[in-house]
This record gives sequence, structure tokens and C-alpha cells, in this order.
Amino acid sequence: MRRTDFREFTSRKSIQSARGPRKIEDFVGTGIIETTFSKIKPCRSFCRCKRPHCTKNHHTILPGRMRNLDKFVIRGNKPLCGEVTVSGAKNAIVAIIPATIMVDGLCRIENVPQVSDVIIQLEILQQMGARVRSVNPSTVEIDCRGMRNARTPEDLMRRLRASYYLIGALLGRYHRAEVAMPGGCNFGGIRPIDQHVKGFEALGASVSIKNGFVYAEASEGLKGAHVYLDVVSVGATMNIMLAASLAQGQTIIENAAKEPHIVDLANFLNAMGADISGAGTDVIKIRGVRRLKGGVYSVIPDQIEAGTYMAAVMAAGGSVTVRNVIPKHLECITAKLIEMGAQVEELDDAVRVTRAQPLNKISLKTLPYPGFPTDMQPQLGAALCLAEGTSVITEGVWENRYRYVEELRRMGAKIQVDGKVAIIEGVSELTGAKVRACDLRAGAAMVIAGLAAHGVTEVEEISYIERGYENLVEKLQGLGADISRVTVIEDDAIPMAR
Ligand code: UD1
Repeated sequence: MRRTDFREFTSRKSIQSARGPRKIEDFVGTGIIETTFSKIKPCRSFCRCKRPHCTKNHHTILPGRMRNLDKFVIRGNKPLCGEVTVSGAKNAIVAIIPATIMVDGLCRIENVPQVSDVIIQLEILQQMGARVRSVNPSTVEIDCRGMRNARTPEDLMRRLRASYYLIGALLGRYHRAEVAMPGGCNFGGIRPIDQHVKGFEALGASVSIKNGFVYAEASEGLKGAHVYLDVVSVGATMNIMLAASLAQGQTIIENAAKEPHIVDLANFLNAMGADISGAGTDVIKIRGVRRLKGGVYSVIPDQIEAGTYMAAVMAAGGSVTVRNVIPKHLECITAKLIEMGAQVEELDDAVRVTRAQPLNKISLKTLPYPGFPTDMQPQLGAALCLAEGTSVITEGVWENRYRYVEELRRMGAKIQVDGKVAIIEGVSELTGAKVRACDLRAGAAMVIAGLAAHGVTEVEEISYIERGYENLVEKLQGLGADISRVTVIEDDAIPMAR
């Protein structure tokens, strides 16, 4: 196995393009989601995307068994300044796209982030018979009326955690679902779905898990029920809400999760004709309706993307206005940044974060919303490596979310982990190193550390990061960061011995 830096190969036709995924329309309907393109017939010399009039090189074209292993290269220790605009919320859209399966009409969805999780989901729906049209880079139309299939494509499904929303949506529409077990980021072993199953069973479905698939069937239809969740689960709350929207009678979810994306899914479903109240509190009532009609909906801004840029300012210093946010959703993050010594100014749909002084140590515990989000823990952990004194993080949601710590240690961070607790002893500087993104938010933490570090940081396995951050490189460049995306080729076809 050989790794090759793309820049060595600029003259080779077969790897002409070094651009990564950019636009939904570049991918929708092409069948190209993989980074290996060997089976796809070319429409032009260098582009194999199968679009009839394609003139662009959309993505890396790799011959044979080569694989795309792009990385970010960051020259750090530069403060961030300027404005950045946040995209639509990834964790909302990955539930809204499956929800369109239940809609008997055309859904036009705005503020859609161009991230790989979305591209994969749209491809899944298309493979199942939906019509998907990209109106502009952030607006997509989905029409699932022609869909005739309750079975989902296995290979694509395994690459998503949010694949489980297909179960609720398919149960709602067809009263049956056959869905590959969710993939997504690994936070310590297989991520459980027992609370989802509990909810579906309460609604009258029988659910079994065999050979890596979840089979759910409600031969007599779904009936409203009372569901008490044993753990506060975002996914289970949203999944039960999906299935219950088209069930007969009323469903009550108690001990429901309250995250902004739960309210957003409820708002989307209500805009399509559902009858859901209480979303955003711990008791949600869903009165089942016969039919959901089409309509237009705009996704909320991404709380975690906004928080990531705010954490980047904490680590690298500077002053940044983060636009297209709902400041209320950021309060749990803002409170901690102020404790760390930042100035945070709330504007109508923006926040301005300024870090002019050294960072203070803090204690932090992640909790379900409105607590501090677990999805911001690695990013703030990276910033706290540079605080004065010793900070303590307690992970209150996932069993194991400290795989990124080992990578930060390569950059000079001093962190000890004991179970769910991480003790971070602040250092005066981090130094650039080769690190990898262990998962989506861990990858964001590596980028943040790289922006603050002296020297060059290379972040590998960036496909994790591109699952959830739209145009990360361009947005950071707009803030003055020295970051670029470099294509690396791994050639499996050439044996090591040569
Ligand atoms: C969602 C987010 C993820 C975030 C998490 C917590 C999406 C696509 N992903 O994941 O980024 O980190 O919320 O905010 O929105 N649990 C069970 N049984 C279940 C389900 C969950 O025990 O059936 C446990 C999990 O192991 C975890 C906790 O509940 O400890 C929270 O998980 P959950 O809120 O369900 O996370 P996800 O919906 O998977």
C-alpha cells in the first residue's frame, strides 16, 4: 500500500481534479458518493460523473483500486478575524429528508447544508424511487410520491448514523421498514437503538434485528401510545415523532429530548400538516393525521457549526462575527466561552466572539439540551489545552468520546482521561503535527488545534469532517486562516514490495 501526495501527480490525467464534494447538484442522481470511481463510465476525458453536459472536474477521479485520502494542511498561530455564515443544521436535515418519505406532495427545503451525510441521504431516497431536484446550492425539492420501496440500499445506509430515521418514516408510510443498522461516528461500541425500538413497539410494530438489519412491521397499522423514554435520546424522540405523525390517535412521548433540531423536525412536520405540540419540552404530543401534504420549509441554522467557529476563535484568538445563527440555541455554549474569558455579543441573528486575553480554565459537563452539547466537547477541549490552569471535562452523554485526546497529545497537549472525565492541564502553545479525525467533531477539534498551533498541522481522514461541515476550508480562509485541502492518493494496486 502506498500513499502519494496529489501534488506530485499534477501531470497525470487520471487524477486531474483535486476538488472535493462541492454542490448537491454535482452528486444527486449520479450514483457517485464513493471516493472510488473505478466502475463509473466517463462522460468526458477526466470527469466520470455521468452528467450529460458536464464540463467541470467535480471531484478526484481515481483509476483502478486507488482511494482518495484528502487531508487539510494548516499553518497555524494566526488569529481569526471577520465574518462567517453558518449553514443549515445537519442534525435537523438528516431527519427532515427521511420525513419527506411520509409526505404526499412536493417538499421544497431551503437552507440545506451541502455535506456528505445529506448527499448520501438524497441518493438513498433516489435509489428508493424518490424524485430529487436541486433548485440551487442550498435548496432541494423532494417528491416521494412515486416511491414504491420500503427497503433501503444497504451500502449507503451503513455510512450514516441518521439512517435510523428511515425506520420511523417508512413505518409511518408503509407500516413496514427494512433498514441496515446505523453507522456513523463511533463513541465507544455500537450505538444503541433500544429506545427507538421501544417506541415503535408501543405504536404496535414488531421489530427484530437480524444480520445487521432492523425489520419493523405493523401489519394492523400504527396506533398512538404513551411512550416513556428511559434515556433522553435525540434519535428516539425524533424517530417516534416521525412514525406517530401518521398513526391512528394520540402519542405522548415523555422524557423527550429538547434539542433545537427536535423542534425543527416538529415544525417541518407541522408545516406539512402534522399535529405535534410540546416539541422543545420533555413531553411531546402527536395527534396522528391521515395525510401530510407538500410545502416549503427552511432548516434552522446549525448550532454546532456556529459553536465550532466560536471555539476556533477561543483557541486561535481574534474576533469573529458568526452570522445566520439563533443566539438562544447558542446560550449553553456562550456561557462557557464567557467563563473562559471571551467577550460574546449577541446580535439579532449573529454573535460576535472576541478573545483578547489568555483563556481561563473551566469545568464543563456535557448534558442533553439545554445543557452543554456533547457535540461541542472535543472542540472546546482543544481550546482548553491552551487555557491557564487545569480544566475538567465530564462527558455526560456518551460512554467514550475522548478518542481525539491521543491526537491532541501529538501536538503537545497535556490531557489525562479517566472514564468519562478528562483533565486538561493548559500549555503555553501547541505545535503542528500529523493528526487524524477520529470522528466528525473530533476532526473539527483537530482543525481548531491546528489553527492555534505553531507550525504545520496535517489533519487526515477528513471525510468524517465533511459529513457535517459545509465549505469548512473556504469559510476558515475567509477568516484569515492558512488552511488548504490537499488530495492524497492511496494506491492499493501497487504492492508494498515494489
Ligand atoms: C444525536 C446526534 C449526535 C449527538 C447526540 C447527542 C444526530 C444525527 N446525531 O445522536 O451528534 O451526539 O444526538 O446529542 O442527530 N441511547 C440509548 N438507547 C437508545 C438511544 C440512545 O441508550 O435507543 C443512549 C446513547 O448511547 C447515548 C444517549 O442515549 O448515551 C444519547 O444518544 P442519542 O441522543 O440517541 O444520540 P443520537 O440520536 O444517536
